[in-house]
Amino acid sequence: MAGVRIVVGTVYGTATEVAYGCVRQLTELGHHPALLKSADYGQLVDDALDVVLVITSTTGDGEIPDDILPLYEALEQRMPALSQARFGVIALGDSGYENFAEAGVQFAALLQRTQAVAVGEPLFIDACETADPEEAAALWLDEWAALL
Ligand SMILES: Cc1cc2nc3c(=O)[nH]c(=O)nc-3n(C[C@H](O)[C@H](O)[C@H](O)COP(=O)(O)O)c2cc1C
Repeated sequence: MAGVRIVVGTVYGTATEVAYGCVRQLTELGHHPALLKSADYGQLVDDALDVVLVITSTTGDGEIPDDILPLYEALEQRMPALSQARFGVIALGDSGYENFAEAGVQFAALLQRTQAVAVGEPLFIDACETADPEEAAALWLDEWAALL
């Protein structure tokens, strides 16, 4: 069973609600999730890091939400070698915007650059199409968690 550190990027709280659901579900599946809100670099990156699940919306014009931006920038600047770690991404967005779910795309690319290993494919939740983001995340998470 895996230790999963969940980091959240949100403006209006939708990603946080999705994250709470993921914590409940991962716990039921026997994993050990930890929800890190406004996580800083030191909370995420240490020798015990096993799995990171990034759950982030996109704001502005394809921008990363303020609460997760410091973590993104610290990872980018320090570029730790995370080859022992695995990651997944849930990217919330709205396809009515030009840069759909860009924050999630950027985070996935950054974690790839740290050599962390991608588990499955990112989940994209489009507010235009998905009335219940928590349900969409739960369906994806079942398959994702089975890969851990
Ligand atoms: C001001 C504003 C800017 C947004 N910009 C984008 C964007 O550039 N790309 C995108 O895919 N979604 C964009 N969105 C949509 C949000 O990412 C989407 O509604 C998401 O579900 C919000 O999640 P949150 O409540 O966790 O912040 C924007 C929403 C708002 C209100």
